[in-house]
Amino acid sequence: MSEYVLRTSGIIKKYGGAFALRDVSVEIKRGQIYGLIGLNGAGKSTFMRAVMGLITLTGGDIELFGTGGGKALRQGRRRIGQSIETPALYPDMTAVQNLEIQRLTGGVPARESVKAVLETVGLEDTGSKKTRDFSLGMKQRLALAMALITNPEFLILDEPVNGLDPKGIIEMRELMRRLARERGLTLLVSSHLLDQLAQVATHYGIIHKGRLVRQLSAEELAAESRQYVKIITNETARAAALLTQNFGVADYQVISKTELRVFEQTEKAGEMNAMLVKSGVTVIGLAAAEQKLEEYFTSLTGGSTA
Ligand SMILES: Nc1ncnc2c1ncn2[C@@H]1O[C@H](COP(=O)(O)OP(=O)(O)OP(=O)(O)O)[C@@H](O)[C@H]1O
Ligand SMILES: [Mg+2]
Repeated sequence: MSEYVLRTSGIIKKYGGAFALRDVSVEIKRGQIYGLIGLNGAGKSTFMRAVMGLITLTGGDIELFGTGGGKALRQGRRRIGQSIETPALYPDMTAVQNLEIQRLTGGVPARESVKAVLETVGLEDTGSKKTRDFSLGMKQRLALAMALITNPEFLILDEPVNGLDPKGIIEMRELMRRLARERGLTLLVSSHLLDQLAQVATHYGIIHKGRLVRQLSAEELAAESRQYVKIITNETARAAALLTQNFGVADYQVISKTELRVFEQTEKAGEMNAMLVKSGVTVIGLAAAEQKLEEYFTSLTGGSTA
C-alpha cells in the first residue's frame, strides 16, 4: 500500500487565458491533515475540483493512493469523501432525510450508516428539525456527515470552518482530529486563514495566485514563526541603517512608514533602543514580539489578492 494518498505533479488549469493553477505539485501521505491555505481566488477550490475530476486539467498529473491513469483515478475517487461543492441540502427535510438521499445516491447499502455519521458529527439529536432552521455550524457538520457516508479513506473539505464562531471552529477542528486519529483518515482541508487550521493541520500547502508557494510541516511552521523586535519610529530607514552599522543587523523588514521589525538578536532589544535614542532617533515604541502565523503567511504571499 502506497504511503501517498495524493500526489500531483505540475498541475495546470487555465480558464480562458488565465491560470487558476500553475504547476502545482502536492504530496499528501496517509494520516496527514493537510491544510491548503490561500486567499480568495488563490485556487483552493479549483485544486480540489481537479483532484475529484470535477474539472478537466490543462496539464499535469494526479496520482491517488499510489496510482495514476484514468481507471485508477476513477477507482481512487470512490474512496474519497468531499464537500467541495456546497452540498445540495433540501431545506424542508431533516438531517436524516438529507443523509438518506445522499446514502442512496452514493450507493451505500447499509441503512445504519446514516445514524452512524450523524453520531460522528454530533447531529444525532436534531430530530424533526428541518435543515433550513440549522445554524451554519450545524450545516457545516451535516456537510461533513454527507462526505462521510460512503466511509471514505480520504476526506476533502473546502473551507469547513468558514463563517463559524470560535466555539464552532474548535468543535470542527476536534472532529477532524478525531477522524484522523481514530479512523486513520487522511484530510485535505482548505482555509483562507492559516490560524483557523493552526492547531489541527499536520502539514500545510500555501497557495497564492494559482502557485503552491510553500509546502511545510506544522513543526517547520512553528520553527519559522519568529521572534522579532518591533520598533515604532518616524525614521525607519535611519533606524535600520544604524542597527546594521552598530549591531550588524541584516534580517529586518520595514513594515510601514513607522514600523521596523528586526528578526535577529531579539535579546538585545534594550541595547538597540539605547543606541537608537543615543543616535538621536525618536523611538516611539520598541518591544519584543512574535510574528504571528497569519502575518507570516501574509509576508509570504505579499499580502495581496490582486
Ligand atoms: N469556472 C470558472 N471559470 C472561470 N474562472 C474560474 C472558474 N473557477 C475558478 N475560476 C478562477 O480561478 C481562480 C481560482 O479560483 P478558486 O475558486 O479555485 O479560488 P479559491 O482559492 O477557492 O477562492 P475562495 O477562497 O474565494 O473560495 C480565480 O481567479 C477564479 O476567478
Ligand atoms: Mg474556494
